[in-house]
Amino acid sequence: MQAQINDLRLEYTDQGTGTPLVLLHAFPLNRTMWAPQIDPFSAHFRTIAIDLRGHGGSSQGHTPFTLEELATDIKDLLDQLTIRQAIFVGLSMGGYILMAFYRLYPDRVKALVLADTRAQADTAEGRAGRFEMIRTAETQGANAIAGIMTPRLLSARTIKTNPDLVGTVRAMIIHNPVETIVADLRAMAERPDSVPLLAQIARPTLLLVGALDQGTPPSDARFMADRIPDAQMTVLPDAAHLSNLEKPEAFNQAVLSFLESIDSN
Ligand code: MLT
Repeated sequence: MQAQINDLRLEYTDQGTGTPLVLLHAFPLNRTMWAPQIDPFSAHFRTIAIDLRGHGGSSQGHTPFTLEELATDIKDLLDQLTIRQAIFVGLSMGGYILMAFYRLYPDRVKALVLADTRAQADTAEGRAGRFEMIRTAETQGANAIAGIMTPRLLSARTIKTNPDLVGTVRAMIIHNPVETIVADLRAMAERPDSVPLLAQIARPTLLLVGALDQGTPPSDARFMADRIPDAQMTVLPDAAHLSNLEKPEAFNQAVLSFLESIDSN
Protein backbone atom coordinates (compact mmCIF):
# COMPACT_ATOMS: atom_id res chain seq x y z
CA MET A 1 0.00 0.00 0.00
CA GLN A 2 1.06 3.60 -0.46
CA ALA A 3 0.35 6.87 1.30
CA GLN A 4 1.25 10.40 0.34
CA ILE A 5 2.64 12.13 3.45
CA ASN A 6 3.56 15.76 2.72
CA ASP A 7 6.21 15.44 -0.03
CA LEU A 8 6.78 11.74 0.63
CA ARG A 9 5.35 8.52 -0.72
CA LEU A 10 5.51 5.89 2.00
CA GLU A 11 5.00 2.23 1.16
CA TYR A 12 3.66 -0.06 3.82
CA THR A 13 2.01 -3.40 4.42
CA ASP A 14 -1.30 -3.31 6.27
CA GLN A 15 -2.71 -6.74 7.07
CA GLY A 16 -5.20 -8.05 9.61
CA THR A 17 -7.67 -6.38 11.92
CA GLY A 18 -7.82 -5.35 15.56
CA THR A 19 -5.33 -3.34 17.61
CA PRO A 20 -2.70 -1.80 15.32
CA LEU A 21 0.80 -3.22 15.60
CA VAL A 22 3.49 -1.19 13.81
CA LEU A 23 6.82 -2.74 12.77
CA LEU A 24 9.91 -0.52 12.36
CA HIS A 25 12.83 -1.97 10.43
CA ALA A 26 16.58 -1.95 11.02
CA PHE A 27 19.45 -0.23 9.18
CA PRO A 28 19.98 -0.51 6.19
CA LEU A 29 17.02 -2.74 5.36
CA ASN A 30 13.32 -2.30 4.56
CA ARG A 31 9.93 -3.58 5.67
CA THR A 32 10.37 -6.96 4.01
CA MET A 33 12.66 -7.91 6.90
CA TRP A 34 9.37 -8.50 8.76
CA ALA A 35 8.17 -11.17 6.29
CA PRO A 36 8.20 -13.99 8.94
CA GLN A 37 6.15 -11.83 11.31
CA ILE A 38 3.36 -10.55 9.03
CA ASP A 39 1.12 -13.63 8.90
CA PRO A 40 1.49 -14.72 12.56
CA PHE A 41 1.02 -11.19 13.88
CA SER A 42 -1.84 -10.30 11.55
CA ALA A 43 -3.80 -13.31 12.82
CA HIS A 44 -4.21 -11.24 16.03
CA PHE A 45 -3.46 -7.61 15.17
CA ARG A 46 -3.75 -5.08 12.37
CA THR A 47 -0.10 -5.37 11.41
CA ILE A 48 1.55 -2.44 9.66
CA ALA A 49 5.14 -2.66 8.39
CA ILE A 50 6.49 0.62 7.03
CA ASP A 51 9.35 1.34 4.62
CA LEU A 52 11.00 4.32 6.27
CA ARG A 53 11.61 7.21 3.90
CA GLY A 54 14.30 6.42 1.32
CA HIS A 55 14.10 2.67 2.07
CA GLY A 56 12.43 -0.12 0.09
CA GLY A 57 9.57 1.32 -1.94
CA SER A 58 9.26 4.68 -0.14
CA SER A 59 10.46 7.84 -1.79
CA GLN A 60 13.55 9.66 -0.64
CA GLY A 61 12.30 13.01 0.59
CA HIS A 62 15.01 15.36 1.75
CA THR A 63 18.36 14.31 3.19
CA PRO A 64 19.90 14.57 5.67
CA PHE A 65 17.09 13.57 8.03
CA THR A 66 16.96 12.93 11.76
CA LEU A 67 15.46 9.95 13.56
CA GLU A 68 12.86 12.37 14.95
CA GLU A 69 11.79 13.18 11.38
CA LEU A 70 11.44 9.47 10.64
CA ALA A 71 9.32 9.17 13.81
CA THR A 72 7.15 12.05 12.62
CA ASP A 73 6.67 10.39 9.21
CA ILE A 74 5.25 7.42 11.12
CA LYS A 75 2.99 9.62 13.22
CA ASP A 76 1.74 11.35 10.05
CA LEU A 77 1.02 7.97 8.44
CA LEU A 78 -0.93 6.86 11.52
CA ASP A 79 -2.88 10.15 11.40
CA GLN A 80 -3.76 9.44 7.78
CA LEU A 81 -4.89 5.92 8.68
CA THR A 82 -6.86 7.40 11.61
CA ILE A 83 -4.96 5.24 14.07
CA ARG A 84 -4.84 6.92 17.43
CA GLN A 85 -2.71 4.39 19.32
CA ALA A 86 -0.61 1.40 18.35
CA ILE A 87 1.71 -1.25 19.69
CA PHE A 88 5.20 -0.76 18.23
CA VAL A 89 7.99 -3.21 17.53
CA GLY A 90 11.31 -1.59 16.61
CA LEU A 91 14.46 -3.57 15.87
CA SER A 92 17.85 -1.90 16.20
CA MET A 93 17.56 1.41 14.27
CA GLY A 94 13.81 0.76 14.43
CA GLY A 95 14.25 0.72 18.22
CA TYR A 96 16.11 4.05 18.17
CA ILE A 97 13.22 5.47 16.14
CA LEU A 98 10.68 3.99 18.53
CA MET A 99 12.41 5.72 21.46
CA ALA A 100 12.37 9.01 19.49
CA PHE A 101 8.68 8.40 18.73
CA TYR A 102 7.90 7.83 22.40
CA ARG A 103 9.75 11.01 23.35
CA LEU A 104 7.65 12.99 20.86
CA TYR A 105 4.29 11.20 20.91
CA PRO A 106 3.95 9.10 24.09
CA ASP A 107 0.14 9.08 23.92
CA ARG A 108 0.24 7.30 20.58
CA VAL A 109 2.04 4.29 22.05
CA LYS A 110 0.14 1.44 23.68
CA ALA A 111 3.08 -0.93 24.23
CA LEU A 112 6.67 -1.27 23.07
CA VAL A 113 8.85 -4.12 21.91
CA LEU A 114 12.45 -2.93 21.73
CA ALA A 115 14.45 -5.59 19.91
CA ASP A 116 18.22 -5.78 19.47
CA THR A 117 18.68 -2.11 20.23
CA ARG A 118 20.21 0.17 22.83
CA ALA A 119 19.33 3.40 24.64
CA GLN A 120 22.76 5.02 24.77
CA ALA A 121 23.93 7.46 22.10
CA ASP A 122 27.01 6.47 20.10
CA THR A 123 30.40 6.64 21.79
CA ALA A 124 33.07 8.80 20.10
CA GLU A 125 34.50 5.59 18.64
CA GLY A 126 31.09 4.43 17.42
CA ARG A 127 30.50 7.80 15.78
CA ALA A 128 33.89 7.70 14.07
CA GLY A 129 32.97 4.24 12.74
CA ARG A 130 29.74 5.68 11.26
CA PHE A 131 31.68 8.39 9.42
CA GLU A 132 34.14 5.80 8.15
CA MET A 133 31.17 3.79 6.83
CA ILE A 134 29.77 6.93 5.19
CA ARG A 135 33.06 7.31 3.30
CA THR A 136 32.90 3.65 2.26
CA ALA A 137 29.31 4.03 1.04
CA GLU A 138 30.16 7.15 -0.94
CA THR A 139 33.27 5.72 -2.53
CA GLN A 140 32.38 2.01 -2.94
CA GLY A 141 28.59 1.91 -2.94
CA ALA A 142 25.92 -0.18 -1.23
CA ASN A 143 27.61 -3.48 -2.13
CA ALA A 144 30.51 -2.64 0.14
CA ILE A 145 28.07 -1.80 2.94
CA ALA A 146 26.38 -5.17 2.44
CA GLY A 147 29.81 -6.79 2.84
CA ILE A 148 30.46 -4.96 6.11
CA MET A 149 26.98 -5.27 7.57
CA THR A 150 26.04 -8.89 6.82
CA PRO A 151 28.43 -10.42 9.40
CA ARG A 152 27.24 -7.84 11.94
CA LEU A 153 23.59 -8.67 11.37
CA LEU A 154 23.69 -12.46 11.16
CA SER A 155 25.45 -15.13 13.19
CA ALA A 156 28.49 -16.96 11.80
CA ARG A 157 26.38 -20.09 11.71
CA THR A 158 23.61 -18.48 9.66
CA ILE A 159 26.19 -17.13 7.23
CA LYS A 160 27.62 -20.62 6.81
CA THR A 161 24.40 -22.59 6.65
CA ASN A 162 21.66 -20.32 5.33
CA PRO A 163 22.71 -18.75 2.01
CA ASP A 164 19.08 -17.88 1.19
CA LEU A 165 18.75 -15.67 4.25
CA VAL A 166 22.17 -14.11 3.63
CA GLY A 167 21.07 -13.36 0.04
CA THR A 168 17.79 -11.85 1.24
CA VAL A 169 19.56 -9.53 3.68
CA ARG A 170 22.19 -8.50 1.12
CA ALA A 171 19.46 -7.78 -1.44
CA MET A 172 17.63 -5.52 1.01
CA ILE A 173 20.82 -3.57 1.70
CA ILE A 174 21.84 -3.22 -1.94
CA HIS A 175 18.36 -2.09 -2.94
CA ASN A 176 18.68 1.07 -0.82
CA PRO A 177 20.21 4.17 -2.41
CA VAL A 178 23.61 5.22 -1.06
CA GLU A 179 22.02 8.56 -0.15
CA THR A 180 19.67 6.75 2.26
CA ILE A 181 22.46 4.68 3.79
CA VAL A 182 24.49 7.84 4.36
CA ALA A 183 21.50 9.68 5.85
CA ASP A 184 20.76 6.76 8.22
CA LEU A 185 24.36 6.67 9.41
CA ARG A 186 24.41 10.41 10.02
CA ALA A 187 21.05 10.31 11.83
CA MET A 188 22.18 7.44 14.07
CA ALA A 189 25.50 9.19 14.82
CA GLU A 190 23.61 12.30 15.86
CA ARG A 191 20.86 10.63 17.84
CA PRO A 192 20.47 11.78 21.43
CA ASP A 193 21.02 9.66 24.49
CA SER A 194 17.73 7.91 25.31
CA VAL A 195 18.83 6.69 28.76
CA PRO A 196 16.96 9.52 30.56
CA LEU A 197 13.80 8.46 28.71
CA LEU A 198 13.81 4.91 30.03
CA ALA A 199 12.45 5.65 33.51
CA GLN A 200 9.65 7.68 31.90
CA ILE A 201 8.33 4.88 29.69
CA ALA A 202 4.95 4.26 31.24
CA ARG A 203 3.75 1.55 28.86
CA PRO A 204 4.17 -2.23 28.88
CA THR A 205 7.58 -2.93 27.36
CA LEU A 206 9.39 -6.05 26.19
CA LEU A 207 13.12 -6.14 25.54
CA LEU A 208 14.03 -8.84 23.04
CA VAL A 209 17.57 -9.73 22.08
CA GLY A 210 19.49 -12.44 20.30
CA ALA A 211 21.91 -14.21 22.65
CA LEU A 212 24.62 -13.87 19.97
CA ASP A 213 23.94 -10.23 19.13
CA GLN A 214 27.30 -8.48 19.18
CA GLY A 215 26.28 -4.97 18.13
CA THR A 216 23.58 -4.61 20.78
CA PRO A 217 24.27 -7.52 23.13
CA PRO A 218 21.99 -8.86 25.89
CA SER A 219 23.79 -6.54 28.36
CA ASP A 220 22.31 -3.55 26.47
CA ALA A 221 18.81 -5.06 26.74
CA ARG A 222 19.40 -5.79 30.45
CA PHE A 223 20.44 -2.15 30.97
CA MET A 224 17.12 -1.00 29.48
CA ALA A 225 15.04 -3.64 31.25
CA ASP A 226 16.49 -2.50 34.59
CA ARG A 227 15.43 1.09 33.98
CA ILE A 228 12.04 0.84 32.25
CA PRO A 229 9.37 0.33 34.93
CA ASP A 230 8.08 -3.30 34.95
CA ALA A 231 9.79 -4.17 31.68
CA GLN A 232 9.99 -7.78 30.56
CA MET A 233 13.01 -9.25 28.79
CA THR A 234 13.56 -12.32 26.64
CA VAL A 235 16.87 -13.57 25.25
CA LEU A 236 16.55 -15.61 22.05
CA PRO A 237 19.08 -18.47 21.88
CA ASP A 238 21.13 -18.98 18.69
CA ALA A 239 20.13 -15.62 17.21
CA ALA A 240 22.39 -12.64 16.50
CA HIS A 241 21.29 -9.08 15.59
CA LEU A 242 18.45 -9.82 13.16
CA SER A 243 16.80 -12.11 15.69
CA ASN A 244 13.39 -11.88 13.98
CA LEU A 245 14.87 -13.40 10.81
CA GLU A 246 17.23 -15.89 12.38
CA LYS A 247 14.78 -17.28 14.94
CA PRO A 248 11.36 -16.19 13.70
CA GLU A 249 9.30 -18.73 15.66
CA ALA A 250 10.93 -17.84 18.99
CA PHE A 251 10.73 -14.12 18.19
CA ASN A 252 7.04 -14.32 17.26
CA GLN A 253 6.19 -16.40 20.27
CA ALA A 254 7.96 -13.96 22.62
CA VAL A 255 6.10 -10.97 21.13
CA LEU A 256 2.71 -12.69 21.06
CA SER A 257 2.94 -14.03 24.61
CA PHE A 258 4.04 -10.60 25.86
CA LEU A 259 1.07 -8.98 24.12
CA GLU A 260 -1.26 -11.63 25.47
CA SER A 261 0.08 -11.05 29.01
CA ILE A 262 -0.56 -7.31 28.86
CA ASP A 263 -3.97 -7.80 27.32
CA SER A 264 -5.13 -9.93 30.24
CA ASN A 265 -3.88 -7.36 32.82
C1 MLT B 1 20.67 -1.71 12.81
O1 MLT B 1 20.60 -2.93 12.70
O2 MLT B 1 19.67 -0.99 12.67
C2 MLT B 1 22.03 -1.10 13.06
O3 MLT B 1 22.96 -2.10 13.27
C3 MLT B 1 21.97 -0.15 14.20
C4 MLT B 1 23.28 0.52 14.46
O4 MLT B 1 24.16 0.52 13.59
O5 MLT B 1 23.44 1.10 15.55
